Amino acid sequence: MHSYTLIAPAKINLYLEIIGDRPDHYHELAMILQSIDLADEIELRSLNTDRIRLHCDHPQVPSDESNIAYQAAELMMRKFPNTFAKYGGVEISITKRIPVAAGLAGGSTNAAAVLVGINLLWKLGLTQSELEELGATLGSDVPFCVAGGTAIATGRGEQLSPLPSLNSIYIVLGKYKSLEVSTPWAYKTYRTQFGDSYIRDSDNLAVRASAVHSGEMVKAILHQDVKEIAQKLHNDLEKVVLPAYPQVLELRETFANAGVLGTMMSGSGPSVFALCESQEHAEQVKQQVKTATNNEDLELFVTQAIAHGIQIAS
Ligand code: C5P
Repeated sequence: MHSYTLIAPAKINLYLEIIGDRPDHYHELAMILQSIDLADEIELRSLNTDRIRLHCDHPQVPSDESNIAYQAAELMMRKFPNTFAKYGGVEISITKRIPVAAGLAGGSTNAAAVLVGINLLWKLGLTQSELEELGATLGSDVPFCVAGGTAIATGRGEQLSPLPSLNSIYIVLGKYKSLEVSTPWAYKTYRTQFGDSYIRDSDNLAVRASAVHSGEMVKAILHQDVKEIAQKLHNDLEKVVLPAYPQVLELRETFANAGVLGTMMSGSGPSVFALCESQEHAEQVKQQVKTATNNEDLELFVTQAIAHGIQIAS
């Protein structure tokens, strides 16, 4: 085959705890990540030249090496020069459905799809864990996007332990199209405001920031109890993003007033999600929030938790 079409799902953070800072300037995290069925479509095709050609139907997504999906193709070319010489370059076509710069790992999942797709195109036979390892060099969320499902993510977010999947949970997701939050800004601001609260070990490395425990969320997931999960939602980055972006705070309050089971910002925002009892409930919440906000700039999606990461489109 000379082309593959892949489904690249978004993720939400059911739990994001900042444990401390790290000497590499990243943050030590304890996260619980969940794939959702809101997904981009990525088509990969071999080219007769040694180029990478990327295009996306979304005007805000760059086509050059600043795009992490482009970087994923460059990485594969660097790592496997002989195979690259045999098969040639790649054309990457992205159909965007995941809102951009939203805290939903839209870029990371595109990069994960490029790794999986080139592995297939070039018949490299890399295992999932080898692809995750390559993905970790591109971005902290890329390994999870390769694997997908429900997982605990520690370290920078790249060390994964799978959890039982939660595929019957319905979620409403909201994102203001014109609103973007920079992830480096969110972490940097957290460090400035809360860095003093880290407990440090003898090497001056931060070891623990707060008394919140991901174990409670893990238990709720093991019980497969959406109400319990909704009560244990947590995101430390809300402490810096909500005060700086009142629209995000307001959206979160609008969701809470719409009678959802629980609501939280995803990742570094600005998207906000809400857990619902059923698909019907989620549709009602979507309508209610749409009417209450009455703002064309707000995109709303009803989506479902899914048990997989990158997949070949059927
Ligand atoms: O790994 P990734 O490139 O997706 O991270 C984007 C930015 O988010 C990093 O440059 C860093 O500023 C911040 N970050 C962090 N700690 C993490 C993950 C991301 O500080 N564990």
